[in-house]
Formats: sequence, C-alpha cells, structure tokens
Amino acid sequence: MEHDHMKYFIMASILTIIGIITFILFDNGYLFQEQKITFDEEQSGLEDQIIIHLSHVTAENTPKGLAAQKFSELTFEKTNGRVKVQVYPNGILYSDNDELEALRKGNVQMIAPSYTNMTDIVPQWKVLDLPFLFQDYDHIKNVFTGETGEQLLQFITDKKIKGLAFWSNGFKQMTNDSHPLLEPEDFAGNTFRIMPGEGLKKQFHALGAKTITTSFTEVFSSLEKQMVDGQENTISNIYTKGLYQYQPYLTLSNHGVLGYAVMVNQDFWDSLPEDIRLQIEDAMRETTLWNMEKSIQMNETQLVEIQKMEDIHVYELPPDAKDRWSKHFKTLYQETKQEAGSDLIELIGNKSAKDSQN
Ligand code: SIN
Repeated sequence: MEHDHMKYFIMASILTIIGIITFILFDNGYLFQEQKITFDEEQSGLEDQIIIHLSHVTAENTPKGLAAQKFSELTFEKTNGRVKVQVYPNGILYSDNDELEALRKGNVQMIAPSYTNMTDIVPQWKVLDLPFLFQDYDHIKNVFTGETGEQLLQFITDKKIKGLAFWSNGFKQMTNDSHPLLEPEDFAGNTFRIMPGEGLKKQFHALGAKTITTSFTEVFSSLEKQMVDGQENTISNIYTKGLYQYQPYLTLSNHGVLGYAVMVNQDFWDSLPEDIRLQIEDAMRETTLWNMEKSIQMNETQLVEIQKMEDIHVYELPPDAKDRWSKHFKTLYQETKQEAGSDLIELIGNKSAKDSQN
C-alpha cells in the first residue's frame, strides 16, 4: 500500500514537471512555431518573412474583424508573401485597456482601437466623438479616407506610434434594458456603459445620465449583472456580442460614429524596407475603402437579423427629437471647440457629401 502511494506520488510529480516544461516552452514560442509558407520559386526571400501581429477586440464577423482579415490577404498578395499579417480578434491577446502599451513595447506591431480610447493621448480626436457631427456614411468616408483623415493622424505625438488609417464600424445606436430612449428625459437617472473617453462621459452627463467606463470585453457581463441600464454601440457590435440579450430596447439614433485608428509600432515601421512600406500602405488604402462599404452593408444586414427577434423592440429616433437632444449638447460642443479648436470641427463638419471638396 505504502509502495503504491509512493509510485503514484512519483508519477504525479513527473507529469507535473512535464506539464510545467511544456507550458514554459509554449509560452516562449518554442512549441508550434510560426507556420512557414511553402517555398515557391516565384516567391523569393521567404526566408526573410516579416510577421505583423495585429491585435483587436471585436468579433471576426464585424467591420473591423473583416477589415483586419482583408488587410492580411492584401498585404500578403502585394508583398508577394514577404509580409504575413497574423490577426488576433476578440481581445484574445490584449484587451482595449492594454493593447496600446503592447504596441508601444513592440509586443504586437499593429492595433486598431477606437479613436475614443485614444483621446487621452490625442485630445484633438475628441471632436470625432461629438454627437450628430457626422451626417451620413458618405460623410464618414470623406473624413476618414481623405486629406482630413491624414491631418487627423498627424495629431499623434507619441514617438512610438505611427497612424496608418481610420476604419469605420458605422453609426452608434442607443440601447436600454427597460424603455426606449427617445427624448432627453428618457436618460435621466440611468447609468450607461461607455468606452474610455471624456467626450462620451460628457455626452451622457448632458442628457442627465450617469456613466461607467469598461473595456469592450466587459460590456456583456456589465449588462448581464445589471451594473448599467444601457449602452451605446453599433448594430454590428450589438449583434455579434449578443448585447441585445439584456437590452431589449434599441433606438436607431445614429448619434455618433465608432471609428478606429489603425496604428503601427514606429520602430518596427522604420525597420521595414522602403518597398515593403509602400506595399503595406497600398494594402491599407485598399482595405480602408473596402471597409467603408463593408461597414454599411454589415450594419444593415445585422439590423435585419435583430429586427427579426421577437423580444427586441426597435425604434427610430424622430427627427424633431434629434433637435431636442442637440440642445443638451451645446456646452459639449463649446468645450470641445475650446480644447481642439473650432477649425477642426468646421473642417470635419464641412466634409458632408454636399460640401465635400475631397
Ligand atoms: C470596438 O469596437 O473596438 C470597441 C467598442 C466598444 O468598446 O464599445
């Protein structure tokens, strides 16, 4: 008996040691090394393959998730296999709280957080969160893909980061667990989950509501645990993360835009040969234009899916209610003007389809 115990003890110890060694090897990347693509005579230089790790937090079947995959395909194609972009969706690598630091340290080479998440270090981007600033999808496209987008990217002063493009997830809508949000009074006393961003906090406070800031990965549980009464997000995020399950009242308010700043680690970028940088930029331009169309289409088809759900009540924000909401945002506009400059607000405001000079 004593002897059997000893045998089990030794076996268990050996298995534990093997487990620990396996974990250490895996964690340090010695197991399951990057899969090398098969050598093809037409593709020279594969031995020097460059890997870009692109981390983001949304599901794969979203405008950002699909744009990341498209960018990966286009980059591979345009660099003739020299550059491989590995995409990590759903925050599996880093949440939106820590992806920026991971980029700075070079633990990943590329991220695409919402510009809202970046407003602490790029305060000018607060303008992009102003409610009812963007009129329609053409307006978003004109700003994100034109000279204005280029100018906005230049506001990044962090030496470790280079901005490459803005992608869109489309317009944000309002959701609530107990009633439709149609008039400013409907917000009074309710608590809303927001992304980290001073502008969004002020937007909800202006409507008489309170806010709780959480990372995207915590939104579902904050709704499930009833820590908040409502939240704002795009149809695509509401649908793919199942947020509607605890938010049966959806108001199509189109009050704001969820956009992303696609950024690369500057040291990594500087280390790339010139021709590769140009090819990556080309892939990024094509992806960004593709994303503009895809984001419209996805939000439309996923809204149809939500509308089919019996327990979800979908409301359109009446146009005159939009004016009543806007009255509450006057101070927010004034404060943002003082901080970011009125020129910037005008510049973006003037890029709507009818005024576009892009
Ligand atoms: C994202 O789309 O990247 C996150 C949005 C959110 O935090 O609500």
